[in-house]
Amino acid sequence: MSKLIIAGGTGFLGTVITSYFKDAFDEIVLLSRKQKKLENHCRTVIWDGKTIGPWTSELDDAEVLINMAGKSVDCRYHSKNKALILNSRIDSTKVLGEAIGLCKKPPKVWLNSSTATIYRHSLDKEMDEETGEIGTGFSVSVAKAWEKAFFGSETPHTRKVALRTAIVLGKDGGALQPMINITKLGLGGKQGSGHQKFSWIHKDDFVQIIDFCIKNDTLSGAINVVSPHPSDNKTVMQLLRKTLNIPFGIPSNKTLLEIGAFLINTETELLLKSRNVIPKRLLKQGYTFTHDDLEMALKELVS
Ligand SMILES: NC(=O)c1ccc[n+]([C@@H]2O[C@H](COP(=O)([O-])OP(=O)(O)OC[C@H]3O[C@@H](n4cnc5c(N)ncnc54)[C@H](OP(=O)(O)O)[C@@H]3O)[C@@H](O)[C@H]2O)c1
Repeated sequence: MSKLIIAGGTGFLGTVITSYFKDAFDEIVLLSRKQKKLENHCRTVIWDGKTIGPWTSELDDAEVLINMAGKSVDCRYHSKNKALILNSRIDSTKVLGEAIGLCKKPPKVWLNSSTATIYRHSLDKEMDEETGEIGTGFSVSVAKAWEKAFFGSETPHTRKVALRTAIVLGKDGGALQPMINITKLGLGGKQGSGHQKFSWIHKDDFVQIIDFCIKNDTLSGAINVVSPHPSDNKTVMQLLRKTLNIPFGIPSNKTLLEIGAFLINTETELLLKSRNVIPKRLLKQGYTFTHDDLEMALKELVS
């Protein structure tokens, strides 16, 4: 019996992963804070994302553990939300490490979510896993603490891969739908200077890369899960308008974005940070991207 465990598997990316692997495993178990009825050989097991409990036994004899748990970063960064964003990632990662330590037959591989936001704001230099420079600020400090908790746990029989993932473009969740919505409202012009780089990954590549990491025994450590060609904000918005047949898009300067972000309960950092990240390790290992052209990817997702 092969078993896949996905902690935080009920969200956008967990659903993408579950759907891709539904025929590849005999059993798929989602660790969630709420019970959810699932189809076929998938089931939910309750955990709280921070303490050892009956869920722990599910990990024994599982082939693969994937952790996607974490409070959404699409919110205002006041102190309560900041603590939730940080703690939900650190606590879930730490307790999974403890649970692996209790297993007689621990999972062979553990893939933990991380973020391409770990690198500094960069307009010019491309950030790869070897020479990329780690940034500063709240989101970077979360990413650093997240990876520290992940790599800090002792799991001698479990290979570990941190997925430094860029903005995942998909149909049923994530950042793309809000971008489509503002474009349809005629507000899809450049945001800020428009020069900020936009690292992205199509949902199909996201999940194929997870598969690649599971099958490739030599891969461990941090991997940039990003398409090989970062775009920039001005180009992304242009391509979205073109794809959606919207003839104009009013640009938003930083002040307007600050007001808008406050009104819709989010942060401008999500739009204005220049994420200039490339998948050096994946390319070196021979991963072939299905979607490396942003215009084609948007066409496929918007159609
Ligand atoms: N989407 C992207 O473009 C993107 C890009 C880079 C990195 N990531 C990272 O990838 C992970 C998954 O992203 P996603 O887009 O799938 O997010 P999502 O849709 O918000 O799902 C996150 C999952 O985390 C669980 N969760 C939320 N708050 C929690 C808490 N306090 N304690 C324990 N579990 C909690 C939820 O599970 P239950 O409510 O069922 O417990 C939910 O299923 C996140 O850590 C995110 O930061 C995402």
